[in-house]
Amino acid sequence: MLYNKRTNTCGELNTRNIGETVVLNGWVAKKRDLGGIIFIDVRDRYGITQIKISPDRKDISALAASLGNEFVISAKGKVIQRESPNKNIPTGEIEIEVEELQVLNESLTTPFVVEEDVKANEDLRLQYRYLDLRRKKMMDGLLLRNKVYQMVHGFYAKHNFVEVETPILMKSTPEGARDYLVPSRVHKGKFYALPQSPQTYKQILMVSGLDRYVQICKCFRDEDLRADRQPEFTQIDVEMSFVTQDDVFKISEELFQNIWKEVLDFNLPGQFPRMTYDYAMTKYGIDKPDLRIKDLMIITDISDAVKTSDFKVFKDVINSGGIIAGIKTGKAQDGSKIEITRKISDGYTEFAKKLGFGGLATLKVNEDGSLQSSILKFLNEESIKGLSAAFDAQPGDFILILSGDKSKVLNGLGQLRLKIAEDFKLLDDSKHEFVWITDFPLFHYEEEENRFVGEHHVFTSPKDEFIHLLDSKDRKEIESIRANCYDLVYNGNELGSGSIRIHDSETQKKVFRIIGLTDEEAAEKFGFILEAFKYGAPPHGGVAFGFDRMIAMLSGTKSIRDIIAFPKTVSAASLMDNCPSPVIKLQLDELGIQLKQG
Ligand code: AMO
Repeated sequence: MLYNKRTNTCGELNTRNIGETVVLNGWVAKKRDLGGIIFIDVRDRYGITQIKISPDRKDISALAASLGNEFVISAKGKVIQRESPNKNIPTGEIEIEVEELQVLNESLTTPFVVEEDVKANEDLRLQYRYLDLRRKKMMDGLLLRNKVYQMVHGFYAKHNFVEVETPILMKSTPEGARDYLVPSRVHKGKFYALPQSPQTYKQILMVSGLDRYVQICKCFRDEDLRADRQPEFTQIDVEMSFVTQDDVFKISEELFQNIWKEVLDFNLPGQFPRMTYDYAMTKYGIDKPDLRIKDLMIITDISDAVKTSDFKVFKDVINSGGIIAGIKTGKAQDGSKIEITRKISDGYTEFAKKLGFGGLATLKVNEDGSLQSSILKFLNEESIKGLSAAFDAQPGDFILILSGDKSKVLNGLGQLRLKIAEDFKLLDDSKHEFVWITDFPLFHYEEEENRFVGEHHVFTSPKDEFIHLLDSKDRKEIESIRANCYDLVYNGNELGSGSIRIHDSETQKKVFRIIGLTDEEAAEKFGFILEAFKYGAPPHGGVAFGFDRMIAMLSGTKSIRDIIAFPKTVSAASLMDNCPSPVIKLQLDELGIQLKQG
């Protein structure tokens, strides 16, 4: 098809081009027919330019009038000053007086109007993803993603990292999430797995002497999905030899400083704050504390302060080894008090009940500093004083208390803290609070499975002072082992995770034993890495950052689906190409697979 090819994009013409004859190619974003004069917004990746077809252009008026939204057109004409400029777009001061108009392709009536303030629900937008991606917000997400992608490659190249592609078909090593499996045709009854991460490969590359590895790679995990979790997602995966935790932190901090400066023009601190896992859990009730409200609603354990009271609920909790703890609302960032009315407080009690608590004790601090609460009648003078002092209760404060099993109470208060912060809009999006969470437990006990599992992954090394406990049989002792393991948290989101690894097969075997793998099972599942460690494995460590999460945060969207070109739904389906989908019997036969009925 012969057509007038564009001389310019739809985002670049301005008053300096007035008088030039230009050709634009693009999509009809909007058409207005003002009694003969037809105005059309032509859209492409670069922007929108208004074109004008005058009624005296008899040759093209009818064609212009027949155009529908999303038709692809070519328009040739002169750049002229616009009578009523649109200050909101860069091309808003000019328009094109059209002389030649061609339709390059028609469009059916679209299932939703392609506009910034889109009305369609997400499923429809996912089904017609190519239309949704025409919207500026969506296109900007892809462009931002590309920009950061290039920066990440450049950054690590500058620091002498080598990009290595690792296999997509690998051995199934079920730890952590569930594997996606791929049946083998040649080896009937055997399966490949898609990598949950290239963890074992990057460690083996260290054994090979690669020294500094990076890969922006796809990972696949069959797990419950949420706004920040996709079944296939992208990581910036890094591994380094002869490094300590500090080395990993330093280079990672530099990466984030560069990106935040370039994209948001924001200067991050030279060194990110660090906080141990234990501190984060006891003070914020969560291992990814949102430090945009660093000093607000920190958890206070008052078990000691109220231990002399006769209040049965508290007594029972203390006797069964639990804790009594709470948070106080204090002042909001702008200095105003957070007003908790009776109705709001009842809402928080309901929230606590949904978390599995019998109730929530609330106390109000009166203007004279005295406390007001229905639980006061159960507490003695000493407990009331102790409680008030523990919270440093100030007039206008509101205190919320939970009691029960320690980890449940801390978790409950952590969630309550975030809920109050959201309800009172205390989480300021102009803040950028990074924090490294360090010293995670090496294992946690999975009650349902009745065994220990790796808190991070099984290659994480214990801190030196805990190594001797790898021989212990005592549950408490094993739970107390702390690891050379860290997470990078940004505004309350886990952005990355990593560790200094085990590099000797003896320690690795002990870890496998604790998670319940016999030597034979360990050899069957991880034999290749244990074997590799026998041939001169250097000390090494690394980290992986969630690329999608980072882009979502940089672009200010809550859902990573918004910044992935072709994402899946929360039930891991792709609505555009309709997968997963059945396959024909022949394909199954070739793989030696027979489906179970029902
Ligand atoms: P981890 O499993 O913690 O560590 O993953 C690292 C980071 O990847 C992101 N992430 C996800 N993003 C989107 N969808 C998901 N389903 C998803 N799962 C994880 C998170 C997370 O912090 N091999 C180790 C890293 C290492 O030890 O070097 C690993 O994969 O931002």
